[in-house]
Amino acid sequence: MTDKPQHFRRYILDSMPVAIVTMDFNFKITSFNRKAEEMTGFPASAAVGRLCSEILRSNKCKNECPLQTVREYQESATGLEAELTNHQGETVPVRIGTTAIEDADGNFIGYLEIIEDISRFKEMEREKENFVSMVAHDMKSPMVIIGGFIKRLQKELIFKDNDKILKYLQTIDEAEHKLESLIHEFLEHSRLESNYFNLKLDDIDIADILKKIIENHRQMIEEQKIDLQCDCQVQAPINADAVYLNRALTNLLNNALKYSPRKGKIIISVREADHEIVIRFQDQGKGIDPKELPYIFDAFYQGKSKNEKSGHGLGLASVKSIVRQHGGRVTVESTPGKGSVFTVRLPRKLNE
Ligand SMILES: Nc1ncnc2c1ncn2[C@@H]1O[C@H](COP(=O)(O)OP(=O)(O)OP(=O)(O)O)[C@@H](O)[C@H]1O
Ligand SMILES: [Mg+2]
Repeated sequence: MTDKPQHFRRYILDSMPVAIVTMDFNFKITSFNRKAEEMTGFPASAAVGRLCSEILRSNKCKNECPLQTVREYQESATGLEAELTNHQGETVPVRIGTTAIEDADGNFIGYLEIIEDISRFKEMEREKENFVSMVAHDMKSPMVIIGGFIKRLQKELIFKDNDKILKYLQTIDEAEHKLESLIHEFLEHSRLESNYFNLKLDDIDIADILKKIIENHRQMIEEQKIDLQCDCQVQAPINADAVYLNRALTNLLNNALKYSPRKGKIIISVREADHEIVIRFQDQGKGIDPKELPYIFDAFYQGKSKNEKSGHGLGLASVKSIVRQHGGRVTVESTPGKGSVFTVRLPRKLNE
C-alpha cells in the first residue's frame, strides 16, 4: 500500500472538530488527532504510548471509566458528560463516545474515544439560567415599583398632594432608568455575541486609549482615594477597533475600582510579548472565590457581589466577546482578600 491513503486518513482525522483517540487493550494511547492535542494541551508525540488516564484526565477516570464499561459490557457508550483537566490545569467540559474497535477480520484491536468539547454549550446553558433569574429579579422589580407607584399616583391625583406626586414620579423615573439601562446593556451584549458587528480595525495607540479611560474615571479614583499606576511600555501601535477596545478596557478598570477598597492600589500595565500585547489590570480588592472564577465571564453572573454592588453582570461577558473578536484571550487570577489580576492578550496584528 502507498502512503497516500494513510495521509488522506490523517488529513480527515486532523480536520475533525472533535478529539479522536485510539487505545490498545491496555488503555495505552495509539493515536491522537489534532483536536485532541488542542483540547488536552499534550502534543501527539507526548500522548502516544501513555496511559489514557494520564492524558485524558477526567473526573470519570476513577469510578466511571468509559473504557472499562465498554470492556465489561462489550457495548459502545455514547453521550457520557465529563470534565477533562487539560495540561494547563484548566477544566474542559466534554461529551465522550467510546467503542471497541476491530480489524477487518473482526479481531478486537483496541478502543476508540470521540470527545466533543461542550464548553460553549455549557456556557449557554448557564447563561440561559442566569438570564431567567435576571428577568425574574432585575427586570421584574423595577416593573413592580413602576406599577405600584402609578397606582399610588392615581390616588394622589384625586387628593392633589403635589409633594407626594413629585416623590412618586421620581421613584418611577429611577426605576424606569434602571430598566432602560438593563435593556440597553442586554441589547449591546446580544449584539456582541451575535457576530453581527464588524470590527473597524485601525492602528491604535494603546497608551492614548488608557489615558482617556483613566481620565473618564478620575472622579471615582479621587473619591475612593485610589493609588492608580499605569505603566505602558509599548512602542508601536496595535491593530484594533478603538471603540470596542475602549469599552473592554473601561469595563476592566470599572471593575477594578468597583471591587477595590478605599485607598486601594490599582496597577495597569501594558507589555509587548512576541506577537501580542499583554494588558494587565491588577487590584487589591476583595478578590474572587475560586468557586466563582469559572463563571465570572458568563453573561448576567454576579456571584456574591450581587447584593452589594450595582451592575448587571454583563461587563466581563462583553470583555470576553470583544477580546475574542480581536483574536485574543482574557484570563483572571485572583486570591480572596488579596486582589485580582485580569490579563488581556491581543495579537498585534489581526490574523497574524
Ligand atoms: N476586579 C474584581 N474584583 C473582584 N470581583 C470581581 C472583579 N471583577 C469582576 N468581579 C466579579 O465578577 C462578577 C462579574 O463581573 P461583571 O463585570 O461581568 O459584572 P458586574 O460588575 O457585576 O456588573 P456590570 O459590569 O454589568 O456593571 C462581578 O459581579 C464580581 O462578583
Ligand atoms: Mg463590571
